[in-house]
This record gives sequence, structure tokens and C-alpha cells, in this order.
Amino acid sequence: MKQNGDICILGIESSCDETAAALVRNGREILSDVVLSQIDIHRLYGGVVPEIASRNHVEAIDVVVKEALRGAGMSLADIDAIAVTYGAGLVGALLVGVSYAKGLAQAQNKPLVAVNHIEGHICANYLTYPDLTPPYTCLLTSGGHTAIVNVLDYDRYDVVCSTVDDAVGEAFDKVARVLGLSYPGGPQIDKLAQQGSPVYKFHSVVTSNGNFSYSGLKTAVINLMHNAEQKGEQINKADVAASFTHAAIDGLLDRLNCEIRQNNAKTVAVAGGVGANSYLRSRLADLKSGLRVCLPKLSLCGDNAAMIASRGYYMYLNGEFADLSLNACPTLKLRGEKPHHR
Ligand code: KG4
Ligand code: ZN
Repeated sequence: MKQNGDICILGIESSCDETAAALVRNGREILSDVVLSQIDIHRLYGGVVPEIASRNHVEAIDVVVKEALRGAGMSLADIDAIAVTYGAGLVGALLVGVSYAKGLAQAQNKPLVAVNHIEGHICANYLTYPDLTPPYTCLLTSGGHTAIVNVLDYDRYDVVCSTVDDAVGEAFDKVARVLGLSYPGGPQIDKLAQQGSPVYKFHSVVTSNGNFSYSGLKTAVINLMHNAEQKGEQINKADVAASFTHAAIDGLLDRLNCEIRQNNAKTVAVAGGVGANSYLRSRLADLKSGLRVCLPKLSLCGDNAAMIASRGYYMYLNGEFADLSLNACPTLKLRGEKPHHR
């Protein structure tokens, strides 16, 4: 329930294959969090089909928003602003959320806040750790982005390094296909890897200038599978999954360790879907002793609207409002993201 002085933000998220809406109080407390996943639909096609995603968002969005309001015991009159993801993501999918949010903001005479999806993933940490405040170092591990970011303030980011080609989640999804696993690949590889051993050694994903590269790792797994197939050899897919997982994650954590030591960081946070990976979660304990490690709750690692509402809250406080000319921006970058500068 809303009390005097509380700021309640309605978050709306439709950047990929989840239609989501949430109510968040003061940027930190989830009052309701509704996520309608389209995974079962897209699994039939082996991946997200953009047009089908858009059509399903159109059907679901109003129901999901009403469910979020009902879950929080609130009406539209109670909310202070509407925060919506406007990028990065699939353009048609984004447009559904953006258009719906614009209509709602106009009809209800509420401020509209345009949220960057990646900045939202970072804010998932505020919902899990209400006392977490910048500065901290963030390992960003999503389906579209991979980077180490120094979060200087709620709206100031210093991107230390990032991937020069594929993102880590994308690599999980592509390797899963090669292993014949169903969509979405990341969680499937995670499960399979737990039954295998990392017997295959792959090159590091850290480049000579301290960025990340995942396309070589993906190709190495493809070559391993094809060579075995051509020789008629049986290959243990669980061992391949474990070997790939170790290579994909170890490099991220080695590079993160370097940054932590160099910057004498006291707090590290993880953001994005790959943050759900069990090997990554277990290995975070190996980072520098005395370091505070923040990991969003599993349900907040993947796409959700609570993280969008949390990000929207800090933009609301800054008076960063959008108008009705707001458009979807499928290739939106993180603020302060520069091309590979280290
Ligand atoms: O952060 P996210 O929503 O993507 C972007 O916003 O770009 O996360 C989706 C990604 C997918 O690539 C998915 O395969 C991966 O996160 N993922 C995982 C796991 N759960 C989701 N990857 C590895 N292990 C998991 N348990
Ligand atoms: Zn995401």
C-alpha cells in the first residue's frame, strides 16, 4: 500500500519475449511483479521470432499491467509515473510497451520515464539489496551485453571493458543449439554442465587488451563437435557444456578480479540473465576476500519490469521525463559506453 511521501512507479517491459509489469515503491520495494513468458511459444522455433513476440505482447500487455495493479492493491490513480523500456531490444517488441505506456501516461496524465533495459538489469540489485548504493563495480552478463562497469552513481557509468563480438548469453544460446538443446539455451547448458567435467580446454575469452571475445569460443565448440562427428566419435555433451561454461565464465571473473584489485573495489554486483548461471554464482565466492558480492535474486536476473520501475524511480527523482515523441531504440547503449578503450 502507498503511504504519504512514497513514490510508486509502474514499470513496463516488453523488449524481448517476456511481457512484464511491476509496481515498485521508492525504487527498492517490489509491491507486485508480473512476468508473462512466451518461452513455450518460441521454443517451437528454436529461438525468439520477433514478429510473433510483438503480436503476443500486444495481446498480453493490458492484462499484465492490470494484474500488476491488482497484485499491489493499487489503482492507476495511485502511481506517480510510468517507466517503460525503450531499448535495447527487438524493435517491434519494444514498440508495444512504448506505445502502450505513452497511451496510458497521456490518458492518466502521469509522467512517462524512458528506461534503458541494461540500466534496468543493473538496478535489479537495488531490489535484492535495499542498502546497496553506488559506487560499486558491476559485471554485466546478459544476452546482448557483456561488460565490466564501474557504477559511479545511479546515472553515471564507466564502462571498463566489454565484448568485441558476441555477448556471453548469446554464446550460451548459440552453443546450446550446437549441442542440440532447446531454447532458451543458457539454462539448459547450466543443467547439462552440472553432469559433466571441464575436460576440454579452450582459449581465454579475455583479449590481449582486456576486453572480451566470445566468437572464438563458440567456433571452438562447433569445431570440437564437427571433428568428433566426422571421426564417428561419441562426445560427452555434458563435458562439452561444462568445458564451455568454465571458459565462458572463468575469463569474466579473472578480468573482474583484475579490475577489483586495480580499483580497490569494495563492492561488486552482477547484472543480466547469465547472473542466474550456477557455476558463475558459485565462483563469485572466490573473488577477493572481504569484498561484498551482490547477486540479484534468481527471479530478477532475467527480464522483469520491477528492475525497470527501480531504474525509473531514480530517473523520476532527477526529473528525466519523456514526451509523446518517445520511440523504440533497438541498439541503445549504456550511458557512457565507449568503444573498446582499454
Ligand atoms: O539479461 P538477459 O535478459 O538478456 C538481455 O537483456 O540481453 O538474459 C538472457 C540471457 C540468455 O542469453 C540466456 O540464455 C541467459 O541469459 N541465461 C543463462 C542462464 N539463464 C539465462 N545463461 C547461463 N546460465 C543460466 N542459468
Ligand atoms: Zn534483459
